[in-house]
Amino acid sequence: MTAIDGSTVRNPDVLREDMVRALRDQGAITSEPVAAAFAAVPRHRFAPEAPLSIAYDLHSTVPVKKDKHGLVISVMSAAHLQAVMLEQAGIEPGMTVLEIGSGGVNAAYLQELVGPGGQVTTVDIDRDIIDRARMCLDEAGYTQVKTVVADGESGVPDGAPYDRVIVTAAAWDIPPSWISGLAEKGRLVVPLTVCGTTRSIAFDRDEDGLISRSYGLAHFVPMQGDGAAEERKVMLRDGVVVRTDDGRVSLNARALDRALGTPQLVRWSGAAYDLPDELDLYLTLNLSSVARLHADKEVIERGLVEASARLGVPALVSEDSIAYRTRRANEETGGYESGVIAHGPQAEALADEYSNLLRRWAHDHRRRGVATFRYLPGPAPSPLPQDAVLRRHGIITATWR
Ligand SMILES: C[S@@+](CC[C@H](N)C(=O)[O-])C[C@H]1O[C@@H](n2cnc3c(N)ncnc32)[C@H](O)[C@@H]1O
Repeated sequence: MTAIDGSTVRNPDVLREDMVRALRDQGAITSEPVAAAFAAVPRHRFAPEAPLSIAYDLHSTVPVKKDKHGLVISVMSAAHLQAVMLEQAGIEPGMTVLEIGSGGVNAAYLQELVGPGGQVTTVDIDRDIIDRARMCLDEAGYTQVKTVVADGESGVPDGAPYDRVIVTAAAWDIPPSWISGLAEKGRLVVPLTVCGTTRSIAFDRDEDGLISRSYGLAHFVPMQGDGAAEERKVMLRDGVVVRTDDGRVSLNARALDRALGTPQLVRWSGAAYDLPDELDLYLTLNLSSVARLHADKEVIERGLVEASARLGVPALVSEDSIAYRTRRANEETGGYESGVIAHGPQAEALADEYSNLLRRWAHDHRRRGVATFRYLPGPAPSPLPQDAVLRRHGIITATWR
């Protein structure tokens, strides 16, 4: 197709076919029903303000709304992530599905997957988002999708039980309504954030609460409303940031800043290092007082903080000291060895705890399969298991056994 100015204009149908092919090639689409849904929904009609190339790009989001500080609070999620989550959900014709966090296009995919005999409800906390989603859904012919304005924290009881609940904003906890709203054999797919890292986790119900079937790294705008994350953040020298979402961890900005100004203690673990995402999950769940340390490129280049902090690294913090992981090349094996950098009066003790965990990970868990997450709703047991993350409505654990 050629535009008046002579440039080539890609036809949305062709772009859509290319997108489906690429999503298959990259392993995001693994089933025929999800491929058919992505082939059927005219994705560009849910992002009319975006160039076609962006609407059909695998990894691009389309910003939909910003808050008064300019922070993006709603986007059309990237096709790749939507495909992965729909595969995790395992949706079948005739199912009843609740989507928490709307935009329109994902609800249209869901409607394709459940077919005319199923029911999709999508809820958003923001009326503007729902108005826009409703308009796009109607214009694209998905009039059967039900749209609701509400805080998804309470679910949408009118319509429960749901065979599937799919959350499309980063959640810090799993409120009781999401579990009670699930059918007995229901599945919840939720991007759950633990200490700064979000994973899309597919949970099935079991007798104790929820147990994971699959998970993968994900990126989402944060949940607003009653379920918003309880996160604290302190800024140290040169823009170095330490943050935590664990209410039991205290962050003393002045003392930690002072610690960072003292010489570093380096402790090599003697253990192999790889698969940093899995290692970080293990550390996050097992460090006794966990935060996340972030530093930008310039600070790292000046040597104040190691490169592991560029994308955020689990940090063990005490009142006046901090430790985090690093790595070095292992000449003998050709791989890497993990180590710890520690600062402050308690550097030795923190380095001991941290390097013990690095060794335990390497010896007991590394390359021994994926983790199983559990969510146990209700009051936390006392004492809290060492590898548990405490939330308002329950606890999260992960095991590699
Ligand atoms: C990534 S966007 C959703 C993308 C969408 N599912 C799509 O089709 O691409 C996340 C949405 O979650 C919504 N949201 C945030 N907190 C919420 C809450 N507590 N209840 C319902 N929706 C919420 C935001 O308003 C935003 O529109």
